[in-house]
Amino acid sequence: MTSLFEELQPAAAAEVQTTRVDIKINGEYKAAQIEPRLLLAHLIRNGFRLTGTHTGCDTTNCGACTVLMDGAPVKSCTVFAVQANGHEVTTVEGLATASELHPIQEGFKDEHGLQCGFCTPGMMMSAKALLDENLNPTEDEVRWALSGNLCRCTGYQNIVKAVLWAAAKMRGEAPPTFGAPADDSADEIADDSAEQPEERSDEAAIADDSAGGEG
Ligand code: FES
Ligand code: FES
Repeated sequence: MTSLFEELQPAAAAEVQTTRVDIKINGEYKAAQIEPRLLLAHLIRNGFRLTGTHTGCDTTNCGACTVLMDGAPVKSCTVFAVQANGHEVTTVEGLATASELHPIQEGFKDEHGLQCGFCTPGMMMSAKALLDENLNPTEDEVRWALSGNLCRCTGYQNIVKAVLWAAAKMRGEAPPTFGAPADDSADEIADDSAEQPEERSDEAAIADDSAGGEG
């Protein structure tokens, strides 16, 4: 069993009241003897040694510490470990199998959805929560689901593409091809401020229609 005492020497730890927690994490049952004030993020990283869960701010802002608790995304820097007692927690280490990446991981790889990678585990866990509920999200729904996760490398455009790529793969469809990053069509997906194409005249549309009819 893991024993975890924050910022205390072993001698002092003997004086501290602790409590036992039992958590199913990534499908494995684990127990830990901890201080009631211990944060879930710190139990995951320092106690269970699952260091894929990152802590970027410790103040519920960045989302790097996002894990799933009973399927719902939570910022583990803002959850006491005792609150996870008796619950099921999934971290980024729980996504891949021994032989295969999860489609979300494949999507981030394929669509270059990361730069430094610090935000990536949290992004992936928020994406997993979304796709577990909605396998066919719109771009706006992806953006909303990831709105609690910050990326300092400003890679949002490719992150959104990565999640849409994963959604298609999980639906059993061929993942979309977004084109090379320099391609104008690739920029359209996230450029909310992009100007709309000029409206075409009715005459031009009619001319096109009739041309299509002949072909
Ligand atoms: S470390 Fe938890 S939100 Fe930033
Ligand atoms: S990839 Fe660097 S913070 Fe997101």
